[in-house]
Amino acid sequence: MNLAIVQARISSTRLPAKALAPVLGRFMILRQVERIREAHRIDRLVVATSTDASDDPLVEACREEGIECERGSLEDVLDRFYQVARKYSPAHVTRLTGDCPLTDPEVLDAVIAFHLDNGFDYTSNALEPTFPDGLDVEVMRFNCLERAWREARLPSEREHVTPYLYHHGDLFRLGSYRGERDLSGMRWTVDEPEDLEFVRRIYARLYAATPSFRMTDVLALLEQEPELASVNSRFQRNEGMQKSLEKDREVRTMRGSLHLAKSLALQARARERIPGMTQLLSKRPDQFSTGVWPGYFSRACGVEVWDLDGNRYIDMSIGGIGANVLGYADSEVDEAVRCAIANGTSCSLNCPEEVELADLLCEIHPWAEKVRYARTGGESMAVAVRIARAATERDTVAFCGYHGWHDWYLAANLGADDALGGHLLTGLSPAGVPRGLAGTAIPFHYNRIGELETIAARHDGELAAIVMEPIRSAPPEPGFLEQVRKIADRTGAVLVMDEISAGFRQNSGGAHLTFGIEPDIAVFSKAIGNGYPIAAVIGRGDVMDAAQRTFISSTYWTERIGPTAALATIRKHRRENTGGHLARIGLRVQTGWRELATAHGLRIEVGGIPPLSHFSFQGAQPLALKSLLVQLMLQRGYLASTSFYAMAAHTDAHVDAYLSALDQVFAEIAEAERTGAVAASLKGQPASPGFTRLA
Ligand SMILES: Cc1ncc(COP(=O)(O)O)c(C=O)c1O
Repeated sequence: MNLAIVQARISSTRLPAKALAPVLGRFMILRQVERIREAHRIDRLVVATSTDASDDPLVEACREEGIECERGSLEDVLDRFYQVARKYSPAHVTRLTGDCPLTDPEVLDAVIAFHLDNGFDYTSNALEPTFPDGLDVEVMRFNCLERAWREARLPSEREHVTPYLYHHGDLFRLGSYRGERDLSGMRWTVDEPEDLEFVRRIYARLYAATPSFRMTDVLALLEQEPELASVNSRFQRNEGMQKSLEKDREVRTMRGSLHLAKSLALQARARERIPGMTQLLSKRPDQFSTGVWPGYFSRACGVEVWDLDGNRYIDMSIGGIGANVLGYADSEVDEAVRCAIANGTSCSLNCPEEVELADLLCEIHPWAEKVRYARTGGESMAVAVRIARAATERDTVAFCGYHGWHDWYLAANLGADDALGGHLLTGLSPAGVPRGLAGTAIPFHYNRIGELETIAARHDGELAAIVMEPIRSAPPEPGFLEQVRKIADRTGAVLVMDEISAGFRQNSGGAHLTFGIEPDIAVFSKAIGNGYPIAAVIGRGDVMDAAQRTFISSTYWTERIGPTAALATIRKHRRENTGGHLARIGLRVQTGWRELATAHGLRIEVGGIPPLSHFSFQGAQPLALKSLLVQLMLQRGYLASTSFYAMAAHTDAHVDAYLSALDQVFAEIAEAERTGAVAASLKGQPASPGFTRLA
C-alpha cells in the first residue's frame, strides 16, 4: 500500500494559518488534497498535523471534508510522520508538505512509478531540483523511514523528516527523479504572503476552465504572462531548511565535537586494506587532523558535502584538490556525462568527443596544433616527458615544482641530497625508482633563472625538457619566463608548462596565456574535468608527432566520459567567466585571512594565486595550530584548513559566513596559544607535514 502523508500545521512562522488561507473560496490545504486525489498511484491519503491546540481548526476542516487527519509532535516532525505512517502499515510512504497547492498529480505518479520500478529506498524529484519549488515529491520505503526515525539525531533531520535518508547514500538506495527541463528557479510553494498571492493568481486564471490544470498549463500561462511570477520572485528556495541547518551548527558547536562514528570506523578499516588509506596524500585525514577529519563523503553538491554520519559541511578547503573548479555535481557537466553514459561510454570504436575537445583546446591555445589524452595529472606528465625525450632523443629533465608520482620525477632524489625537499616532501625516499635513472631529473627554483642557466651549461646538449608550472605561489619576476623560453630555444629542450593546477583558474585556459609565453607542450587535468578523470597534453605539431616514435597507448584513455566532461566544463567556464569569479572570491579569502590574523595577533604567511590560496601559521607549532583550526571549523560546519581552492559555486555569502566563523576560530586559537593550551585543546592528532611547493 502506498500512503500519502501531507504534513501541515497552523503555527507556520512566516505565514501563520496558511493551510486555511482561502484560494478561490476554499482552504488552501483542501485545494492541494483535491489535486493529490487525482494521482493514480496513491492508495490512501492522510493529513498529519500536531497535537498543539493551534491545529484544532485544521483538524476540524479536514473532518468536515472527510479527509483522514492524524496528530503528533509539533517539533519532532519525523516522529509525527513515522507514528502516523505506522498506523496504516504501508509498504511505501509518499511525503508532501501542506504548502504546495499547485501539486501536480502527474508528477506525483511519475515519481512514485520511478521509485517502485527501480526498487529504490528513497526517491525524490528534489535531490537534484529540476521542478518548480512547490512540486516536490518524496517517496520512501516504510522500513527505511523507520530506520531514519530510530537513528536520526540532528535538529534538521528531526524537523525536516527525510534528510537522514537522502544524506545516507551509503545506507539507502537513493533515486533522483529529474525533469526534462530545469525549472528549479520557479517558486510555486507558499511560505510568504506574496507566494499566496502568486498561487491565487494562477488559480484565478486557470481553475474555472480547467479545474484539473497541470504543471504544463501553469508553465504555458507564465510564458504568456511572465509578470504573474514577479510577485514572489525575490524569495530563496528552502529557507526553512537553511534555518534548521543553522540550528545543526549551533548544536555541534555546543557539543564541541561531531558524531563521526561511521567515518572513523571506515578509516580504520581502510588503513588495514589500503596502504596509506587513500590514493592521494592530500586527502589523507592526517593532512588535517586524524580523529576529527571526516575523511569520507556520502554526497557532495555545489559547495556542500555530507559525511557518512550525516554531518553537512560547507567546503572551504581544497575543492576536490583543485579538480572541481565549478563545484560538486555541477548539473550542466553531469547532464552531459549522463547523456554520454546513455549512449555508451566505450566500445570497439573511438569517441568523437576527443576530436572536438582537441579542436577546442587548440582554439584556446593557438600556438598548439596537436593533442594526446590521458586521465590523470601524473599520467599526462609522464606522457609529456616521454614525448619530449622522444622528440629530442635526450634524457635529462630540468624541472621546478611538483609534477606527479612517476619515476622520471622521483629520480631527482636518487643519490641526490634531498633534491625534492621544497618541491614535494622533505626526506622523500625514491624507493622503487630504478637507480639507473640517477642524474636524469634536476630541480631548479622558480624565479631563479641562474639555477636553470647552470643546469643548461652543465648539461650542454643533454637537456630533453624544461618542466615547470607557469605560476604557483608567487608571480614570475619580470623577464623570468621569457628567459626560460630563451634557454629552451638555445639548448633545444622542449619547454613543458604544467597547467594541471594553474590552468583554468584566473582565465579560461592555460595561465601561460596571461604571461604571453608560448611553451612547446602544455598539460592540463584537474579543472578541465570538474571531477571526471581527463588529462590533455597539447603541443606544437612537430614535437607532438614524436608520440608516434615511441609507444604511448592505454585502453581507458579512449573512454567517452572524460572528454565529454571536459567539453561541458570548458564551455561553461568560458561562458560564465569562471576565472574572474575564482580570482575575486580567492582574493576576498586571502584578504580576510590577513585581516583576521592581524586582528587576533596571529602570525600567518599567505601565498598562492587567489584561486589556489594557502597560508601557514608561523612560530613553534604550525601543525598543531592548523589542526586546531580544522577542528574548530568542522564544529561550525566547515571543511576548512590552511588552503582554500575557489569553486564557481562559492558565493559572496559563503565567504562572508566563512570569515565570520573564522573570526571566532582565530580568537579561540589566539587564546589557546596565549595560554599554552593548544595541545590540550586538540581532540585529534596534529597534522602531518604535507606537500610543500616552491615559494
Ligand atoms: C602542478 C601539478 N602537476 C601534476 C600533478 C599531479 O596530478 P595528479 O594528482 O592528477 O596525478 C599535480 C597535482 O597536484 C600538480 O599540482
